[in-house]
Amino acid sequence: MRVLGIETSCDETAAAVVEGGRTVRSTVVASQADLHAPYGGVVPELAARRHVERIHPVVEEAVSRAGGWEAVDGVAVTRGPGLLVALLVGLQAAKGIALARSLPLAGVHHLAGHVASVFIEGATREPDGLGGPAPPRFPFVALVVSGGHTHLYRVDESEKFRLLGATRDDAAGEAYDKVGKILGLGYPGGPAVDKLARAHGPIDDTGDGTPRFPRPMLNDPSFDFSFSGLKTAVLYDLKRRGLYDDDPDLSPRERAREIPPELLGRICRAFQDAAVEVLVEKTFRAAGREGVDDVAVVGGVAANGGLREALVRRGREEGVRVHIPASAYCTDNAAMIAAAGHAALRAGGPPLEEALAMEAQAGWELAS
Ligand code: KG4
Ligand code: ZN
Repeated sequence: MRVLGIETSCDETAAAVVEGGRTVRSTVVASQADLHAPYGGVVPELAARRHVERIHPVVEEAVSRAGGWEAVDGVAVTRGPGLLVALLVGLQAAKGIALARSLPLAGVHHLAGHVASVFIEGATREPDGLGGPAPPRFPFVALVVSGGHTHLYRVDESEKFRLLGATRDDAAGEAYDKVGKILGLGYPGGPAVDKLARAHGPIDDTGDGTPRFPRPMLNDPSFDFSFSGLKTAVLYDLKRRGLYDDDPDLSPRERAREIPPELLGRICRAFQDAAVEVLVEKTFRAAGREGVDDVAVVGGVAANGGLREALVRRGREEGVRVHIPASAYCTDNAAMIAAAGHAALRAGGPPLEEALAMEAQAGWELAS
């Protein structure tokens, strides 16, 4: 069965055709990052308008690359969580297609989509993907780490999710983006902070004034996270050095231009070391407690070079298999949505009337 996936939950308009829940026939992602960059974050109203402009060309391109509409047997669409006005665009498009072409339609949870990305054929083996030749074996622990989520799940056969822990405040990607903003690195800050952190290399504790940022909740026995204090620690460090001006009239770039490049790299590295340590430690602790041999790390922040390196190293030490998709399948895409919707659609999907009445769910828990 070939499923057309549609994703518009945030600032990527994406469509893809996936066969058998695993084989990508086409995948198209139109990013809106440039549109939102001047605002330092996603502006929902602008995102929705851009989705409206892009959704049809993006869907058409994905379908034609996959061999035309004859090659589509069902439609899977992100139903939530995400920005309501953005979700509605994908949902309406998917309903229109299902109705006009008499195709079954299934709504997909965005995070179930991220988890499904490790089952996409080749996704963890692409040039920059990490994983064994096979997808993870059930049960496994999944860390979903993105701009909106930092959630740890236990995933059992037939995709049953149990929540093990989650962030109590900011998501890891959100912290990356806020730190990027504080440092004047533009939006989204995650990739920029990652690049500078890696270019800087390891920090040695020689007392050269390198900040050692807190590892929030590292010693807490729960599997919860907290990243808001870490972001604040970066802000205070800059203020203490007299390198952060609160003047609201200054643009982030003007505010940050004073930071010497070497120090900028050092702060990025120190922040990344702290964030990565907590993410890795909690994930492997969860794997240990659950007694699983496989760990999947998915979502935008799973593209982070420092996190990937640390996870692989720890996996080797503990004899745990680590599965991380190539970057293109970490950040939002529609192939993962098609993959996640495959099982429900193969079983026939909900009756069309029910599918057409499906509402977007901006806040939607995958499991508790
Ligand atoms: O999964 P995703 O595309 O969208 C959400 O569902 O949130 O994740 C986007 C997030 C952003 O916060 C972005 O800064 C972060 O992932 N991100 C990164 C990297 N690449 C993307 N964070 C750290 N390092 C990266 N290399
Ligand atoms: Zn996402």
